[in-house]
Amino acid sequence: MLVLGIETSCDETGVALYDTEKGLIANQLHTQMALHAEYGGVVPELASRDHIRRLVPLTQAAFNEAGVQYADIDAIAYTQGPGLGGALLAGAAYANALAFALNKPILPVHHLEGHLLSPLLADEPPEFPFVALLVSGGHTQFMAVRGVGDYELLGETVDDAAGEAFDKTGKLLGLPYPAGAILSQYAKLGQPETFHFPRPMLHSADLQMSFSGLKTAVLTAVEKTRAELGLSPHDTLPETVRNDICRAFQDAVVDVLVAKSQRALLQTGFRTLVVAGGVGANWKLREILSHLQVQAAPKSPRENVKTHFPPLPLCTDNGAMMAFAGAMRLQHGVQVAEPSGQFDVKPR
Ligand code: KG4
Ligand code: ZN
Repeated sequence: MLVLGIETSCDETGVALYDTEKGLIANQLHTQMALHAEYGGVVPELASRDHIRRLVPLTQAAFNEAGVQYADIDAIAYTQGPGLGGALLAGAAYANALAFALNKPILPVHHLEGHLLSPLLADEPPEFPFVALLVSGGHTQFMAVRGVGDYELLGETVDDAAGEAFDKTGKLLGLPYPAGAILSQYAKLGQPETFHFPRPMLHSADLQMSFSGLKTAVLTAVEKTRAELGLSPHDTLPETVRNDICRAFQDAVVDVLVAKSQRALLQTGFRTLVVAGGVGANWKLREILSHLQVQAAPKSPRENVKTHFPPLPLCTDNGAMMAFAGAMRLQHGVQVAEPSGQFDVKPR
């Protein structure tokens, strides 16, 4: 079975081909990061226009990469949501038009299903059941995954997503958008505990999280430090201070994600954790979660957790995860629609 996957939910245009026998045979990606950088965030109108510009050439490149013909595919899977309405429409209109022209079945896929199945694309895929931590710029949630299509939401952030907290904190520190990757590099250079930021809901007996208070704490620390150093609001912070703040911020976010991951594992009884989404690329989170243990009761032995991460290039948005999710749905007998020219997107 050969599935074409199309992803346009935000600021990456992804087109990929997944073959259930041969695996991922093409994976084309265009990131709009540079396009939005000067605005400090994704500009929806620009995103939609750029998706429209990129979809046809990326699809051609994917078929060239795989050395297959358009007629060879069995279905087209595309991101139906959540995401930016206009951006989703660009991908959905393209995917549906192509399906209609080729007379192939069409599969609308939930963006987060793509993320949470993406670790199965690794060389050593996880086995069901597992706890999935989906941690991106738009979501921070724990899911119990018992099989393809069998997902249960265990808990999520009550306000900002963890990636959003990275981006907003980065903006406060004058870092380019999206700030997660660069902020985590600066964190590597920072000293521990020079600053200390709160870990909201760390000890709440559930899987809720909250990250919006963190940026306020960072803002307060930045203003206080500026005042102490006699800097004006327009002056950039000394690099050491910036690095220390990045370190303290990252430590706070990672502490919460680690503690809640342990809670999710204990609650479900599962001992496999899968981490997906852009923040899953964070080195500190990967380092700690790779050696995670849980303890069911104070006197019981510590148990090892097997943690899986998607291959790094598949952590952020991409077409491969959509092609793969589509293929899994087909293989597991999920009903697919014949192309009818009727379609819808679900931004929320
Ligand atoms: O999954 P993704 O590509 O897009 C969605 O949000 O769906 O995730 C992007 C998010 C951004 O907020 C970005 O700052 C964050 O992931 N991110 C990171 C790192 N790399 C990307 N956050 C922390 N550390 C990183 N290394
Ligand atoms: Zn995503």
